[in-house]
Amino acid sequence: MPVPGPGYSITVRVEAPPSASAAGDLTSAVGRVGGVITAFDVVESHGDRVVVDITCNAMSANHARDITTALEALPGVAVRKVSDRTFLMHLGGKIEVSAKVALRNRDDLSRAYTPGVARICQAIAENPDDARRLTIKRNTVAVVTDGSAVLGLGNLGPAAALPVMEGKAALFKKFAGVDAWPVCLDTQDTEEIIRAVELIAPVYGGINLEDIAAPRCFEIEARLREKLDIPVFHDDQHGTAICVVAALRNALRVVGKDIADCTIVVCGVGAAGSAIIRLLLQRGPADVVAVDIDGIVHRDREGMDTNLAWVAQNTNRDGKTGRLHDALVGADVFIGVSAPNLFGAEQVATMADDAVVFALANPDPEIDPLEAQRHAAVVATGRSDYPNQINNVLAFPGVFRGLLDAQARTITDPMLLAAAEAIADIVAPEQLNPSFIVPSVFDAAVAPAVADAVRRAAQA
Ligand SMILES: NC(=O)c1ccc[n+]([C@@H]2O[C@H](COP(=O)([O-])OP(=O)(O)OC[C@H]3O[C@@H](n4cnc5c(N)ncnc54)[C@H](O)[C@@H]3O)[C@@H](O)[C@H]2O)c1
Repeated sequence: MPVPGPGYSITVRVEAPPSASAAGDLTSAVGRVGGVITAFDVVESHGDRVVVDITCNAMSANHARDITTALEALPGVAVRKVSDRTFLMHLGGKIEVSAKVALRNRDDLSRAYTPGVARICQAIAENPDDARRLTIKRNTVAVVTDGSAVLGLGNLGPAAALPVMEGKAALFKKFAGVDAWPVCLDTQDTEEIIRAVELIAPVYGGINLEDIAAPRCFEIEARLREKLDIPVFHDDQHGTAICVVAALRNALRVVGKDIADCTIVVCGVGAAGSAIIRLLLQRGPADVVAVDIDGIVHRDREGMDTNLAWVAQNTNRDGKTGRLHDALVGADVFIGVSAPNLFGAEQVATMADDAVVFALANPDPEIDPLEAQRHAAVVATGRSDYPNQINNVLAFPGVFRGLLDAQARTITDPMLLAAAEAIADIVAPEQLNPSFIVPSVFDAAVAPAVADAVRRAAQA
């Protein structure tokens, strides 16, 4: 059930009669249709009318229209303008470049640019590794997409992906001081994407692949890792895997189970699910059972691609077959990165005692978390309006901070596991409970702890 949130926040400018009851009438009208007022500002006052900006959260674009209609229906009230605050925030984009050096006079100019800069160019030509010391490469990451899997919205193309990539760059800067820049490629051809990233790589200390559809994303990442001497990290895969492994470690602490005794169902074997399975297997669970849209993944299934075949070979010890509901029977943990509304409380009841349910499909999870809570001991989602939000922002800023600080040339599973441990460890034993298995995304301790762990693992 959606609740009003800042994602659909509007400011409605209305003219209203200057009566004593005007404010009450306006706020009541918004409240009656379920809007949540966050600000009420009188911007003009006249003898015969007041002009008021009412800012409120809605549940959807339609709900925002209902709020406006409710205000218009009040006697003597006229709506002058409706501003969507999310669109306002995006006007002209969300990031910019700023110079780190002062350019006040000829002296500054001669060192920052010609003629002085020529000596820096020559130094790098003689010793290419100096680029990591004397240029932005030291702190810069490319956020690369082809726009083929934008959020849960599908193949929107490179231009429509840009607001997400800008947001990602803003998060990199805010949480870890990393200078990230969007690179939205106007191609969805695997070879062209690989070549394009290879060609731009000299500028960057790392490549963050983003919102590139499976299975193309697997090959692109693997080939770029072979070709480049900087770390390549597909956040939809490994950022998710890090956060899930961190959250699972703490969830199992809450229920007092050892992962070595747990059967884990992973529903969704796309970008996120495949990476989760690979990282989880390093933690030594009793078994992992993977399920996708065609049912349980097992060795005798036909028509599997390389990725599914690998999963089939390395999971499902007992050769289970069937659908998700069959997989859930007796399982200790469910991890969903698939599709909305796949099961209900009655299926959770068939899981082992003290079941853990991570229903991460966005925006609507595999099971309503309130339903899941009826039988599960710990429930997590990807949503900010429920406890235990599993959000990649816990991982990627610190991961790249650590990689850049270590001047790492690759990224390895021990680094991913170190990042997961660091996130889990932020939750102190006295804080840990079924509603708090991961730290807040605004916990300032997270990114430095992750960075430190990744840097140590990279230097080990
Ligand atoms: N931190 C998070 O909360 C987080 C992180 C990553 C992905 N996600 C969510 O996970 C979902 C999957 O993301 P992805 O990038 O891996 O997508 P993807 O398209 O690469 O993979 C989707 C997978 O789900 C499976 N699937 C689809 N419908 C299914 C059904 N009815 N039953 C069983 N399996 C089904 C598909 O077969 C496929 O294996 C999305 O909703 C995404 O928003 C959440």
